[in-house]
Amino acid sequence: MPTELVDSFGRVHRDLRVSVTDRCNFRCSYCMPTEGMVWQPRDEILTFEEIERIVRVAVERFGVRSVRLTGGEPTVRAHLPVLIGRLSALGVDLALTTNGSSLSLLAEDLVAAGLSRINVSLDSLRADRFATITGRHGLDRVLEGIDAAVAAGLAPVKINMVVMAGVNDDEVVDMAAFGRRRGVEVRFIEFMPLDAQQAWVDGDVVPAASIVAAIDEVYPLESVPRTSSAPAQQWRYRDGAGSIGVIPTVTESFCSTCDRVRLTADGQFRTCLFATDEHDLRGLMRGGASDDQLAAVMTSAVEGKWAGHQIGQVHFIRPRRSMSQIGG
Ligand code: GTP
Ligand code: 5AD
Ligand code: SF4
Repeated sequence: MPTELVDSFGRVHRDLRVSVTDRCNFRCSYCMPTEGMVWQPRDEILTFEEIERIVRVAVERFGVRSVRLTGGEPTVRAHLPVLIGRLSALGVDLALTTNGSSLSLLAEDLVAAGLSRINVSLDSLRADRFATITGRHGLDRVLEGIDAAVAAGLAPVKINMVVMAGVNDDEVVDMAAFGRRRGVEVRFIEFMPLDAQQAWVDGDVVPAASIVAAIDEVYPLESVPRTSSAPAQQWRYRDGAGSIGVIPTVTESFCSTCDRVRLTADGQFRTCLFATDEHDLRGLMRGGASDDQLAAVMTSAVEGKWAGHQIGQVHFIRPRRSMSQIGG
C-alpha cells in the first residue's frame, strides 16, 4: 500500500476537507437551492466516530496534515467542539470554514477544543444586500462573529467574498477597507459554476486581475511570492496595513498543484470539487470494512483523479450536487 495519496500526475494529496453536515441556516443561491432543499436523513450523515476513523486512516496511512471542516454550515452540527477535540488529538492542522453566524457564541469553545484557523464567508457589508444573497437578515451577527473569532485567538481569521458581476462587485474596495480596519485578510473568490440553480454564466465571473486592479488603485498592492499549493494568491498593501488574497478558480485554475481530497457529510470520498463520481466510504464502514479496505479505496480513487476542472470548455459537466452538499 503506498504511503501517500499520489495521483497519476504526481500530485501528492495531504489536505482533506470534511463536510460535517449538508444543513445550513443560510440560503445562498450560489451554494444551494433557494427553495425545496431536502436535507439528507440523519442516519445517512456520518457519525463523529466514522468521521474520526476516516481522518485517522488518512493521517496514519497517507500523512494527511491539514483538515478543514466545512458544510453546509459546520456550526449547525450539534456538539461540533467534541468533534474538533477528537480530530485535533490526531495532530492535524485543523481549520473551519463557516458563515460566521454562530461565532459570537461558539468561538471560544472551538478554540478550547483545538481549532486553530478559521475562514468566514461574507459577500456583502450592506445589510439589505447581505439578506438578499444569504436569504437571511443577520449581517450584524456575522460581523460580531468575526470580532469574536479574532478575540478568541483564532489566527489567521480570513474572510471569503465570492465576487459576482452585477451582484456585489461594486463592494470590492469597501471589503478591502473592512479587512484593513479589522486586521483580517479578505480573499476575493471567482464565482464557480456550483450554484444549485445552474444559472452560472461566464459573464458572472469577475476576473481576479480586475479585482486586484480595483483595489490597487485605492490601496497600492504588491504581489507576495507563492510558497504553497493553497488556492489563494496573496497581495500585500504597500503601506503595511496587511494583505489580501485572490482565488482565481476560473481564470487561472490551480488544479496542476491541487493537493485536496474531500469527504462529504454522507461519507462519499471525492477527489475533486467538480468530480462527477464519488467513492462510498460510509457503505464500506457500515458493511464492516477494515482500515486497509478504506485506505485501498482512497488510494485507487486518487490514482484515477483527473487533471482538473474544465470550466468554460464544451465538455465541462457540472457536478450532480450543489456546493452545500459537496462541502466547499
Ligand atoms: P486556506 O487556504 O487553508 O485558508 O483554505 P481555502 O482557501 O482552501 O478554504 P476555503 O474553504 O476558505 O475556500 C475558499 C475558496 O476556495 C472557496 O470558494 C472554495 O470553494 C475554493 N476552493 C477551496 N478548495 C478548492 C478546490 O479544491 N478547488 C477549487 N477549484 N476551489 C477550491
Ligand atoms: N463559487 C465560489 N465560491 C463558492 N463558495 C460557495 N459557493 C461558491 C461558488 N459557486 C464559497 C463560500 C465559502 C467557501 C467554502 O466556498 O462562500 O466561503
Ligand atoms: Fe483540485 Fe479539482 Fe479544485 Fe482543480 S477543481 S483545484 S483538481 S479540486
